[in-house]
Amino acid sequence: MMAYPANIEQRINDLLSRMTLEEKLGQMSQHSVGGPISAQLKDEIRKGRWGSFLNAGSPADRVEAQRIALKESRLGIPLIFGRDVIHGYRTIFPIPLGQAASWDPELIRQAARVAAREASAAGIHWTFAPMLDITRDPRWGRIAETLGEDPYLASALGAAMVRGFQGDSLDAPGSIAACVKHYVGYGAAEGGRDYNTTWIPERLLRDVYLQPFHAAIRAGAATVMSAFNDLNGVPASGNPFTLRQVLRNEWKFDGFVVSDWNSVIEMVPHGVAAGPREAALIALRAGVDMEMVSRSYYEHLKQAVESGEVDQKLIDDAVRNILRVKFRLGLFDKPIPEKVAAEEAPPDAEALAVAKKLAAESVVLLKNANRTLPLSKTIGRVAVIGPLADSPVDQMGCWVMDGKASDVRTPLAAFRDVLGAARVAYAPGLKTSRDTSRAGFPAALEAARRADAVLLFLGEEQILSGEAHSRAFLDLPGAQEALVEEVAKAGKPLIVVIMAGRPLTFEKVAARADAVLYAWHPGTMGGPAIADLVLGVESPSGKLPVTFPRTVGQIPIYYNHMNTGRPPSEKALGIPTGTPVDPQGFDSKYLDVDFTPAYPFGYGLSYTTFEYTNLRVSSPSMPMGGKLTVSADVANTGTVEADEIVQLYVRDLVGSVTRPVRELKGFRRVRLKPGEKRTVEFELTTADLAFHNAENKLVTEPGVFHVWIGPDSTRGLRGEFRVTE
Ligand code: GLC
Repeated sequence: MMAYPANIEQRINDLLSRMTLEEKLGQMSQHSVGGPISAQLKDEIRKGRWGSFLNAGSPADRVEAQRIALKESRLGIPLIFGRDVIHGYRTIFPIPLGQAASWDPELIRQAARVAAREASAAGIHWTFAPMLDITRDPRWGRIAETLGEDPYLASALGAAMVRGFQGDSLDAPGSIAACVKHYVGYGAAEGGRDYNTTWIPERLLRDVYLQPFHAAIRAGAATVMSAFNDLNGVPASGNPFTLRQVLRNEWKFDGFVVSDWNSVIEMVPHGVAAGPREAALIALRAGVDMEMVSRSYYEHLKQAVESGEVDQKLIDDAVRNILRVKFRLGLFDKPIPEKVAAEEAPPDAEALAVAKKLAAESVVLLKNANRTLPLSKTIGRVAVIGPLADSPVDQMGCWVMDGKASDVRTPLAAFRDVLGAARVAYAPGLKTSRDTSRAGFPAALEAARRADAVLLFLGEEQILSGEAHSRAFLDLPGAQEALVEEVAKAGKPLIVVIMAGRPLTFEKVAARADAVLYAWHPGTMGGPAIADLVLGVESPSGKLPVTFPRTVGQIPIYYNHMNTGRPPSEKALGIPTGTPVDPQGFDSKYLDVDFTPAYPFGYGLSYTTFEYTNLRVSSPSMPMGGKLTVSADVANTGTVEADEIVQLYVRDLVGSVTRPVRELKGFRRVRLKPGEKRTVEFELTTADLAFHNAENKLVTEPGVFHVWIGPDSTRGLRGEFRVTE
């Protein structure tokens, strides 16, 4: 936790004692402006009607609004300006799910730092990020914004984002307040349909969904956003168990909670509030301090206090939390900028360098038959084909508020830069990812025929993921699969690059391709990053932060599952429908598809090969409260210098409740030259092995554990140790 001057609390108490009830309710109200701040809004600011704006005008608008708040309102309480700086402000980084594929907390922190620097220069104090929802359902459009399916990985990366946004001190230049969202359980929406019901037993809530939020609070996250979803019958924006018992009483969080957009009054359609007044009472009592967009707090709580129905202390506590963050941000003390840049500056060299490196590290090599990749820079001509080869807006992905398409370097532009336009034949083949017209196919085939290798850029437009954009099918949209078949007729090496906001199902395409790179939506510098990988300047190092199903029918499918009483045996492979063979065995499988995923959590190939040997566990047992180390030697047995993300997994063989077959407990990026070998060592403590038992108590239990060090969640060297009483 960061240290703050003690007098902040004194200043809060002093201010609170002078505020009217209306001014207090004003602080608890956030308005989305969506454009310039009107004269009416300026007048309302003078009267203390608003404590915060999101989506408010230009930098100059925000400076003027802040000047009014500080100089012309009765108490001079500053506004806090929020914005969805989800994966970059002007420089757009890969979508968070792509960033998670880098497994690189330090680089992710740097990217968040760049975003904070750019946003704060534009008068933004507060971002509604990181989004720390765990999800196991790629149908859910917001998986694009998550850091994947695993609580350990999402905790490490989410905490890094918080540190990047907030820096060493909230009031330092270039720092903005983080807002961890959507608290909590939003990613467990039934059917992967956004805003849908969630049922999460407390043990699962604590062991999986709450973990990344706890890590972010420990990293000092200044604010929390309550979610839309009905959590076990109690909407997350009116849930005293999560908002008070866990967040305040257990975690000692002392920042403030903002609702999601209208999520307070959405408790009316949820059916727990008869109207906005009741919704306001539920949210306030549960622990939502600031209401985003809807106005039930301002419109109903004054009367509720005056009638004695609600204790004024609840209002004072909420305002105290809000003022505390404003003081910590230095908003009361920061001078009003004399002048503001008329036009926001384009990305600078540092920003673009971080964006390119993070985009490159986020790309996952899923297939590379016969060493198709990397291509030689001396290759004669490449064909760049597909609806995502030159689509700046799609390349940036969802939740881009201030990024500009004109800043984006697409793959087409990048390959033309590197190889020269004459050596790059281009044909989109399809106008968009959803296009079903084959009118562009002949030109695509012709481009492929004239080339020495084909780079086929497929996937999803950015509009197909993100909020309220769930899909019931995960195939490549439109006629993209047909485009692959058409272009394959040219008989040239076929490299498929997929840009998408989620795992897709593309087994036929992967079978047809010689190589497959998964680039997510890679952001502003996606093109140069992909070109560097394809041409071997750098080897791919990304690892999947989420399981890729073979078909949507396998969902939910995730690596850290329980074993069941009849785990599928190796022979329980998918039995093609219509086969005369009788289904064999009574175990947990499908008749019509293999039970395994298309690509497992943690999976990713390289241009080199890595060999794991000599796993060592420092002791055969450790007492409760003890620790041991697990290490293995990792050698680069190929011909290319490259990074490997070495992963540590454990399995608790017997517990008082069933336990996952694997759990990630460590990872390390190591760079190895050809022939180089390095010992990679992890420390494990008994606390690392803790889980919530049937009584929802956090325990570590004695017994035997398996431990693996390896390249993904399905392979690696296995060791064993025992935890003793
Ligand atoms: C949206 C999203 C949330 C976002 C907020 C402000 O509905 O759920 O993630 O930060 O509203 O735009």
